[in-house]
Order: sequence, then C-alpha cells, then structure tokens
Amino acid sequence: MTQPPLALDALLTRYSVGPKHLTEPGPSEAHLAQMAEAALRAPDHAELVPYRFKVVRGAAKERMAALFADAARAAGKGEEGATLDRERALKPPVTVAVVARIDLGHPLVPAHEQWAAVGGAIANFLTAAHALGFGGKMLSGAKVRDAAIAAAFCEPGETLLGWIALGTPSRKAAGPSRKGDAASVLVDWHSPCKA
Ligand SMILES: Cc1cc2nc3c(=O)[nH]c(=O)nc-3n(C[C@H](O)[C@H](O)[C@H](O)COP(=O)(O)O)c2cc1C
Repeated sequence: MTQPPLALDALLTRYSVGPKHLTEPGPSEAHLAQMAEAALRAPDHAELVPYRFKVVRGAAKERMAALFADAARAAGKGEEGATLDRERALKPPVTVAVVARIDLGHPLVPAHEQWAAVGGAIANFLTAAHALGFGGKMLSGAKVRDAAIAAAFCEPGETLLGWIALGTPSRKAAGPSRKGDAASVLVDWHSPCKA
C-alpha cells in the first residue's frame, strides 16, 4: 500500500473553529482562491455551480457589522444584543458569505441535488482552509432570514445560507468527532427498507 495522500489527513482531522478562537492572520487572496478551487472539485450534477462565496474583509467588515447590529435591533435584542452581534461580525479576520443559487425549474437536476452540491462545496472549502493551517466554522442563525441582510448579500433568486468565519485557530480540536464512527453511518444494504 502506498503512502496515503496528505489530503486524507486533512479530511480525517478537520474540525470547526468558532469566531471566539479565530485570530489574525486570516487567509490571503491566494489562500481563498485555493479554498474556492477545492470547492469547485466537489460533486456537482450538470456542473451548475449553484453557489457563490462572497468575501467580507477590511472595510466591508464594518458594513456587515452594522447590518448585523440593525438585524439584532429588528429582532428585539436591544442595544446589548446589537453590540454583541456587531462584535461577532468583526471578530473573524475574514468572513465568507455562502450564497446558494438553486434553479428550481432545472429540467435535469432537482433542487435537493443542487443543495447537495452546495454542501459538498462548503465541506471542501472548509477542509482546504484546514489543510492550509486555518480554522473555520460555518455559521447561520436567524440573521440569514433578515430581509436587509439577505438583500445585501443576495442577487434575485439567491438564498443566503450563512457565513464561514476564517482565521488562524487559537485552539486545537477538542477531540475526535462527536458525530459517531464509521460503523454508525456505513451499513450493508441487503433488501428494501420496510415501509
Ligand atoms: C449550513 C450550516 C449552518 C450552520 N450554522 C451553525 C450555526 O449557526 N451555529 C453553530 O454553532 N453551528 C452551525 N453549523 C454547524 C457547525 O458549522 C459545525 O459543523 C458543527 O458545530 C460541528 O462541528 P465540527 O464541524 O467540528 O464537527 C452549521 C453548519 C452548516 C452546514
């Protein structure tokens, strides 16, 4: 057996790092391009590329923070909540909004397959970030449904899925994945499922 590729190590060790544990430096333009290229390697029926990654960095972070604060006020969180949400937007060195563009009338590829492609792209993007030494976490929350935020990130027909927070991780993985082991998801199929 030949030496397993380094990519497998990255796949088997990736973990999410929340904004609290993300510090400078964030990924550069070249790093982000590699993450986007990894995303484009994800399975994608009919190569529709039903997603966009919108990078928020530099001065744009303040604009996103203002949107987050307004959304918190609109949701009745008060000034304290608005300040918290503003700080959440500013903390990660780089944030990448994930926008899905699902073609509901596609003749060949139903919506669920396009969503699967979006999920694969996110996973590859995050694994590439990890392989490059960065930490990241996919986040959403009620904010994605705030009309002003959605309008700020989406063209007509697009859906804001959430944001990937990115930076240098200040903590290691807490331990192995809590989601279970291979045996919990890998099962032999013998006959049709019972109704
Ligand atoms: C589309 C999407 C949205 C998510 N939104 C949140 C969120 O708002 N808050 C959160 O704590 N985790 C959210 N998660 C889950 C985390 O990104 C992460 O996967 C989870 O905490 C498991 O950690 P792990 O990736 O280290 O296994 C989301 C995941 C996905 C795919």
